[in-house]
Amino acid sequence: MTLFFDVVLAVHLAALALAGLASFGMPMVARALANAPPEGRAALGALRGRIANAGLMALGTLVTTGTVLLLIGVNKPLGLWFGAKLTAVFVLACVVFYARENAANAAKGDAAAQARAPKLARLSTALLLLVILLAALAFG
Ligand code: HEM
Repeated sequence: MTLFFDVVLAVHLAALALAGLASFGMPMVARALANAPPEGRAALGALRGRIANAGLMALGTLVTTGTVLLLIGVNKPLGLWFGAKLTAVFVLACVVFYARENAANAAKGDAAAQARAPKLARLSTALLLLVILLAALAFG
Protein backbone atom coordinates (compact mmCIF):
# COMPACT_ATOMS: atom_id res chain seq x y z
CA MET A 1 0.00 0.00 0.00
CA THR A 2 2.83 2.41 0.87
CA LEU A 3 4.51 1.74 -2.49
CA PHE A 4 1.17 2.29 -4.27
CA PHE A 5 0.68 5.55 -2.31
CA ASP A 6 4.19 6.70 -3.31
CA VAL A 7 3.59 5.84 -6.98
CA VAL A 8 0.28 7.76 -7.02
CA LEU A 9 1.98 10.70 -5.25
CA ALA A 10 4.73 10.62 -7.92
CA VAL A 11 2.04 10.75 -10.65
CA HIS A 12 0.36 13.63 -8.73
CA LEU A 13 3.67 15.55 -8.75
CA ALA A 14 4.40 14.67 -12.42
CA ALA A 15 0.96 16.07 -13.32
CA LEU A 16 1.90 19.19 -11.35
CA ALA A 17 5.05 19.51 -13.52
CA LEU A 18 2.86 19.27 -16.66
CA ALA A 19 0.43 21.85 -15.23
CA GLY A 20 3.38 24.19 -14.60
CA LEU A 21 4.66 23.68 -18.13
CA ALA A 22 1.23 24.51 -19.57
CA SER A 23 0.77 27.46 -17.24
CA PHE A 24 4.12 29.11 -18.00
CA GLY A 25 4.37 27.90 -21.64
CA MET A 26 0.98 29.21 -22.73
CA PRO A 27 1.75 32.96 -22.43
CA MET A 28 5.09 32.41 -24.23
CA VAL A 29 3.34 30.77 -27.19
CA ALA A 30 0.59 33.42 -27.10
CA ARG A 31 3.24 36.16 -27.32
CA ALA A 32 5.02 34.36 -30.19
CA LEU A 33 1.65 33.97 -31.93
CA ALA A 34 0.88 37.68 -31.62
CA ASN A 35 4.21 38.56 -33.29
CA ALA A 36 4.27 35.69 -35.82
CA PRO A 37 4.14 36.21 -39.59
CA PRO A 38 0.86 34.96 -41.14
CA GLU A 39 2.48 31.74 -42.45
CA GLY A 40 3.59 30.73 -38.92
CA ARG A 41 0.26 31.37 -37.21
CA ALA A 42 -1.48 28.06 -37.98
CA ALA A 43 1.36 25.99 -36.49
CA LEU A 44 1.63 28.18 -33.38
CA GLY A 45 -2.16 28.21 -32.96
CA ALA A 46 -2.19 24.40 -33.08
CA LEU A 47 0.66 24.27 -30.53
CA ARG A 48 -1.29 26.61 -28.23
CA GLY A 49 -4.31 24.28 -28.47
CA ARG A 50 -2.15 21.27 -27.62
CA ILE A 51 -0.61 23.03 -24.59
CA ALA A 52 -4.11 24.03 -23.41
CA ASN A 53 -5.23 20.38 -23.68
CA ALA A 54 -2.13 19.19 -21.81
CA GLY A 55 -2.93 21.68 -19.02
CA LEU A 56 -6.50 20.41 -18.76
CA MET A 57 -5.28 16.79 -18.73
CA ALA A 58 -2.80 17.71 -15.97
CA LEU A 59 -5.56 19.30 -13.89
CA GLY A 60 -7.77 16.22 -14.36
CA THR A 61 -4.88 13.96 -13.33
CA LEU A 62 -4.19 16.12 -10.25
CA VAL A 63 -7.82 15.88 -9.12
CA THR A 64 -7.99 12.10 -9.85
CA THR A 65 -4.69 11.19 -8.18
CA GLY A 66 -5.38 13.59 -5.29
CA THR A 67 -8.70 11.83 -4.66
CA VAL A 68 -6.98 8.41 -4.83
CA LEU A 69 -4.33 9.61 -2.32
CA LEU A 70 -7.14 10.61 0.03
CA LEU A 71 -8.96 7.31 -0.42
CA ILE A 72 -5.92 5.06 0.11
CA GLY A 73 -4.97 6.96 3.22
CA VAL A 74 -3.02 10.03 4.21
CA ASN A 75 -1.44 9.39 7.60
CA LYS A 76 -1.61 13.03 8.64
CA PRO A 77 -4.56 15.05 9.94
CA LEU A 78 -6.17 17.12 7.19
CA GLY A 79 -6.62 20.61 8.57
CA LEU A 80 -7.65 24.03 7.39
CA TRP A 81 -4.76 24.32 4.91
CA PHE A 82 -6.01 21.25 3.05
CA GLY A 83 -9.53 22.74 2.90
CA ALA A 84 -8.01 25.97 1.59
CA LYS A 85 -6.06 23.95 -1.01
CA LEU A 86 -9.21 22.19 -2.26
CA THR A 87 -11.07 25.52 -2.44
CA ALA A 88 -8.21 27.02 -4.47
CA VAL A 89 -8.22 23.94 -6.78
CA PHE A 90 -11.97 24.45 -7.35
CA VAL A 91 -11.48 28.16 -8.16
CA LEU A 92 -8.55 27.25 -10.46
CA ALA A 93 -10.70 24.69 -12.32
CA CYS A 94 -13.46 27.31 -12.79
CA VAL A 95 -10.93 29.85 -14.14
CA VAL A 96 -9.40 27.24 -16.50
CA PHE A 97 -12.82 26.31 -17.95
CA TYR A 98 -13.79 29.97 -18.31
CA ALA A 99 -10.42 30.70 -19.98
CA ARG A 100 -11.07 27.92 -22.52
CA GLU A 101 -14.46 29.36 -23.38
CA ASN A 102 -12.89 32.82 -23.56
CA ALA A 103 -10.13 31.53 -25.89
CA ALA A 104 -12.77 30.08 -28.24
CA ASN A 105 -14.50 33.50 -28.37
CA ALA A 106 -11.14 35.26 -28.84
CA ALA A 107 -10.38 32.96 -31.81
CA LYS A 108 -13.71 34.06 -33.38
CA GLY A 109 -12.49 37.68 -33.21
CA ASP A 110 -14.18 38.85 -29.97
CA ALA A 111 -11.99 41.84 -28.98
CA ALA A 112 -13.09 41.83 -25.31
CA ALA A 113 -12.22 38.13 -25.05
CA GLN A 114 -8.81 38.78 -26.65
CA ALA A 115 -8.09 41.49 -24.06
CA ARG A 116 -9.25 39.21 -21.21
CA ALA A 117 -7.12 36.21 -22.27
CA PRO A 118 -3.71 37.30 -20.84
CA LYS A 119 -5.37 38.35 -17.55
CA LEU A 120 -7.00 34.92 -17.22
CA ALA A 121 -3.65 33.25 -17.99
CA ARG A 122 -1.93 35.29 -15.23
CA LEU A 123 -4.77 34.55 -12.80
CA SER A 124 -4.58 30.78 -13.41
CA THR A 125 -0.77 30.78 -12.97
CA ALA A 126 -1.17 32.70 -9.69
CA LEU A 127 -3.83 30.21 -8.54
CA LEU A 128 -1.61 27.24 -9.43
CA LEU A 129 1.22 28.74 -7.35
CA LEU A 130 -1.25 29.34 -4.51
CA VAL A 131 -2.40 25.68 -4.62
CA ILE A 132 1.27 24.54 -4.44
CA LEU A 133 1.87 26.82 -1.43
CA LEU A 134 -1.28 25.56 0.30
CA ALA A 135 -0.28 21.91 -0.45
CA ALA A 136 3.12 22.54 1.14
CA LEU A 137 1.45 24.15 4.19
CA ALA A 138 -1.05 21.26 4.41
CA PHE A 139 1.44 18.40 4.08
CA GLY A 140 4.89 19.86 4.69
C1 HEM B 1 -4.03 22.02 -9.09
C2 HEM B 1 -4.24 20.97 -8.34
C3 HEM B 1 -3.26 20.43 -7.33
C4 HEM B 1 -1.94 20.76 -7.09
C5 HEM B 1 -1.10 21.83 -7.78
C6 HEM B 1 -1.47 19.91 -6.02
C7 HEM B 1 -0.19 19.94 -5.47
C8 HEM B 1 0.30 19.06 -4.54
C9 HEM B 1 1.65 19.05 -3.99
C10 HEM B 1 2.75 20.05 -4.38
C11 HEM B 1 1.72 18.05 -3.10
C12 HEM B 1 2.96 17.64 -2.25
C13 HEM B 1 2.88 18.37 -0.94
C14 HEM B 1 3.87 17.89 0.10
O1 HEM B 1 4.07 16.67 0.21
O2 HEM B 1 4.43 18.74 0.82
C15 HEM B 1 0.43 17.39 -3.06
C16 HEM B 1 0.10 16.31 -2.26
C17 HEM B 1 -1.18 15.83 -2.07
N1 HEM B 1 -2.34 16.28 -2.69
FE1 HEM B 1 -2.42 17.63 -4.18
N2 HEM B 1 -2.50 19.08 -5.63
C18 HEM B 1 -3.61 19.37 -6.39
C19 HEM B 1 -4.88 18.80 -6.31
C20 HEM B 1 -5.26 17.91 -5.32
C21 HEM B 1 -6.61 17.45 -5.07
C22 HEM B 1 -7.82 17.89 -5.90
C23 HEM B 1 -6.56 16.60 -4.01
C24 HEM B 1 -7.65 15.84 -3.32
C25 HEM B 1 -8.86 15.67 -3.78
C26 HEM B 1 -5.18 16.52 -3.58
C27 HEM B 1 -4.73 15.74 -2.54
C28 HEM B 1 -3.40 15.59 -2.18
C29 HEM B 1 -2.93 14.61 -1.20
C30 HEM B 1 -3.81 13.66 -0.41
C31 HEM B 1 -1.53 14.75 -1.16
C32 HEM B 1 -0.54 13.85 -0.41
C33 HEM B 1 -0.04 14.25 0.86
C34 HEM B 1 1.01 13.35 1.50
O3 HEM B 1 2.17 13.41 1.09
O4 HEM B 1 0.63 12.64 2.43
N3 HEM B 1 -4.42 17.32 -4.38
N4 HEM B 1 -0.42 18.04 -3.93
